Parts: sequence; C-alpha cells; structure tokens
Amino acid sequence: MSETIYSRVKNGLDRIKREGHLRSIPNIDHGSDLYLMHTGKRLLNLASNNYLGLAGSESLKQAAIQSVQTFGASSGASRLITGNYALYGELEQSLRSFKKTPAALAMNSGYTANLGIISSLADRKTLVFSDRLNHASIIDGIILSRAEHIRYRHADPEHLEFLLQKAPEQAQKILITDSVFSMDGDRAPLSELVLLCKKHKVTLIIDEAHATGVLGLGKGLAADLGLDQEIDAHMGTFSKALGSFGGYVAGSRELIDLLTNRARSLIYSTALPPAVVGANLEALRQVEAHPEKGEKLLLMAEDIRLYLNNLGYDTGSSTTQIIPVILGESRRALRFQGKLMEMGIYAGAIRPPTVARNSARLRLCIRADMGDPEMELIKNAFKKLDHSREK
Ligand SMILES: Cc1ncc(COP(=O)(O)O)c(C=O)c1O
Repeated sequence: MSETIYSRVKNGLDRIKREGHLRSIPNIDHGSDLYLMHTGKRLLNLASNNYLGLAGSESLKQAAIQSVQTFGASSGASRLITGNYALYGELEQSLRSFKKTPAALAMNSGYTANLGIISSLADRKTLVFSDRLNHASIIDGIILSRAEHIRYRHADPEHLEFLLQKAPEQAQKILITDSVFSMDGDRAPLSELVLLCKKHKVTLIIDEAHATGVLGLGKGLAADLGLDQEIDAHMGTFSKALGSFGGYVAGSRELIDLLTNRARSLIYSTALPPAVVGANLEALRQVEAHPEKGEKLLLMAEDIRLYLNNLGYDTGSSTTQIIPVILGESRRALRFQGKLMEMGIYAGAIRPPTVARNSARLRLCIRADMGDPEMELIKNAFKKLDHSREK
C-alpha cells in the first residue's frame, strides 16, 4: 500500500474510532436460528430478520438440497449469458401470481434490486422523492442514477406535497419508500402517497423488504391496503421473512424488459446459485400456504410492544414485528445490550450513523417461531432492566 493511501486508511479508521462508531463483525454462529451462539453462549435471537423462522425449516433446506442435486452448486454466469435455469422461470411465475403483476424479475439481492430499478428508471433529469429514513440501498440507487435526490420528512405526506408543488411540472418524478421501515418498524402512509403520486404524475416504487411474508397475509403492505394495483414497481427480498436470499422486482412487462436491458446489477453479476432459487420458490409456497403466520407474528409483537410501553419504554411509532427500544445515547444502548445478553437475549444495538444522533436503540425482531417461554423471557428481562433507574 502506498504511503498516501496508508495514511488515508489509518486516518479514516482513527476518525471512526474517535467518533465511537467503530464496527466489527461479531462472533456469532447460527445467527438465523431462534437461539444463536455468541462467543460460546446460547442466546434468544432477537436480531435476525428471519421473522417466520423459515431459514432453518426442513422444507427450505430440502428444496435447496434438491436444487443443488439437479442444477449444481453455481449458476456459472450472468442470467443473460448462460446463468439462467428452469427454476428461475418457476420462481418468476410464482412471483407474478404472488404480487398479481404481469411480470417479475428475480434479482441477486434486495440491495442490487434497488440499485437496478432506480438506476434504470432515473437519470440526471429525474427528481427522486425519497423518505428520509429509506434504506441505504435506495440512497445508493439514487446516487448511482445521478438523479436529483429530494428527501421528505419521514412518513410525512404534507412535507412531500410541499416539495412536489415546488418541482417543475414537466420534470420526470419518482417516489420511493420503504413500506415498513427497517429501524423503526413503522409503516409508510401508503394511501396518501398513492393519492399524491396520482395527483402529481409520479412513478411510485415501494420496497417491501420487511413487509413481505408478514403484512397483507404475507404479500406486503400494498396488498394489505388493497393498493397493490396502484404501485408502479414492487421491490422486495427473499432474505428476511422468506428465510432465504435474493431480491425481486414485480410490475409491468415493459418495466421488467427495461430492467433486463438496463439494470447493470443484473446484467453484470453471476446469477443466483440453484440452492438459493430452489429455497426461494419453496419460501413463496410456504407463505402462500400459511398466510396466518404473519398475522400471528403481528399479534405477538403487539403483545410485547404493549408490555414494554407499560413499563415506560419508548418504542417509537412501531406497529410491526420490528420494535425499536429507543434509548438515546449509543453507550446506553450498548449497556442495555450487554445486560440483555447476561439474561440470555441477543438484540441488535443500533447506533448512529445508522440512526439519528441521540436515538440509539435496541432493535427487537419478534419471531413467529417463538413460544410462551421466549415471550416470558423477553418480558422478564425488560422488567428487570427497569429503564427508569438504568440511565
Ligand atoms: C428496506 C430494505 N431494503 C433492501 C434491503 C436489502 O435487502 P437484501 O438484504 O436482500 O440485500 C434491506 C435489508 O438489508 C432493507 O432493510
């Protein structure tokens, strides 16, 4: 490494350390299971996005194994070269019927799906309106597209309308929002956003990463609200409640054809391995066969949220399986995380820059595979923590 690059690396790291934002990869094993191993200790896992527990299910494992036996370990190339195989066709057929859209495209991850959609639809002349708390992959997609990035206050249609009114009428406009926000567990005001998009002729893209498998009998927030036909592009991921890996986009035939021609994250990357596509297909089958699991998960989360609120914890605007316990300073969140571990629970401590200053939090992901013992463990732990004394 040259001297100048070395000092840039060192200065960059020193700065991250000074700001108290240094991250490292935790020593975790079995991190998608109900109980994970953390430095040799078995802890209830409230940090994984495997909300339905599908990742470790026999049906997904068997589907992955069978796919490997038929198609091998790798796809061997981009889908546009030789990386395509029959399972992809079946998966996209299932996605079409799941999302009730004329076409669908499986992508390599939710992250690359967002990069692909935004950079295919937007260019320098486009105005992209984006919720302030949208996921990093949306922000990166907007940067990649070189479009003008106009951020509106979180879940605030009035602020959005104010900004839309200021925009030139003839400009191409796109609105993109998470449907369930990953660090807050609240929902986008989708009905209002749909109306505003119609009124101001805006293309609407929604990211259903955390809603898929849970809300709307597993089909997402748009389906829950009966608005699925009002969305121009649905994006989601197989890597959270669906217990597998990979992203998808669903929408019109023309949209999918455009992505196939323009989305560099699809064109210039090796297609997903067969084990993953097989598991994705099975995950969709599971969600369609058991739509009640998402409902049950939401009720379990509501039970925990109410309990925490009664103890005086601030859970923000959460209404889903993601419950933030907002604690303020980063050090406080880390201290709470440590105490929870002592009581047998692993929860993510989320700190700036992932969330705003002074809003560090524990992010609890409630899971449908928890039973009464786990629900009690969580409640007792937070009761013992007693946030009013634990400053
Ligand atoms: C809202 C949102 N969109 C997209 C992604 C990216 O999905 P994936 O993990 O499949 O890349 C995530 C998760 O990391 C997310 O929370």
